[in-house]
Amino acid sequence: MTADYDTLAKTIAALTEGETDQVALMATIACEVHHADDRFDWTGFYRVTQPGLLKIGPYQGGHGCLVIPFDRGVCGAAARTGEVQLVPDVEAFPGHIACATSTRSELVLPVRDASGKVIAVFDIDSNQPDAFTDQDATALGAILTDVFAR
Ligand code: SME
Repeated sequence: MTADYDTLAKTIAALTEGETDQVALMATIACEVHHADDRFDWTGFYRVTQPGLLKIGPYQGGHGCLVIPFDRGVCGAAARTGEVQLVPDVEAFPGHIACATSTRSELVLPVRDASGKVIAVFDIDSNQPDAFTDQDATALGAILTDVFAR
C-alpha cells in the first residue's frame, strides 16, 4: 500500500492535538507514517542534542545508529543544510551511513520548531531503489510543519 497523505495528516493531527512533548509527538508520527506505506522499512527521528550532533529518537524498524554527526550521512546533510535530502541510490551518496545493508534509498527531512530552528531530522529508509518522490517530501514536510511548528 502507498500512503494516503490526506488521511495520514488528519490522523496525525487528531492524535497529536494539544500535545507539546516532542518525544510523544515523534513517537506518534514514526508509528503512523511507518505503517502507512509498504515502501517504508525504517522510519524515525534523529534529534539535535548539541551543536553539530544528532542522536537517535523514536523510530520503527530495525536497529538505528545512536549518534550521527552533522558531517556524516544523509541525516547529517539534512541537519547541516536544513534542506530535504531525497536519495534515490544510497550507494551513490558520499558518506552514507549503512545502519541496515538492505537500505537502497532514503528521504530525510529537516524538522523545524515554530522559530524555524532545526530540532531534528525525520529519516525514512526503503529497501527499494528510488522509492521516494517529491510528493512524498512535500506531504511529509507539511505534516512535520503542522505538528512541530505550531
Ligand atoms: N541512513 C542514514 C543513517 C540512519 S539509518 O539508516 C537508520 C544516513 O546515512 O544518514
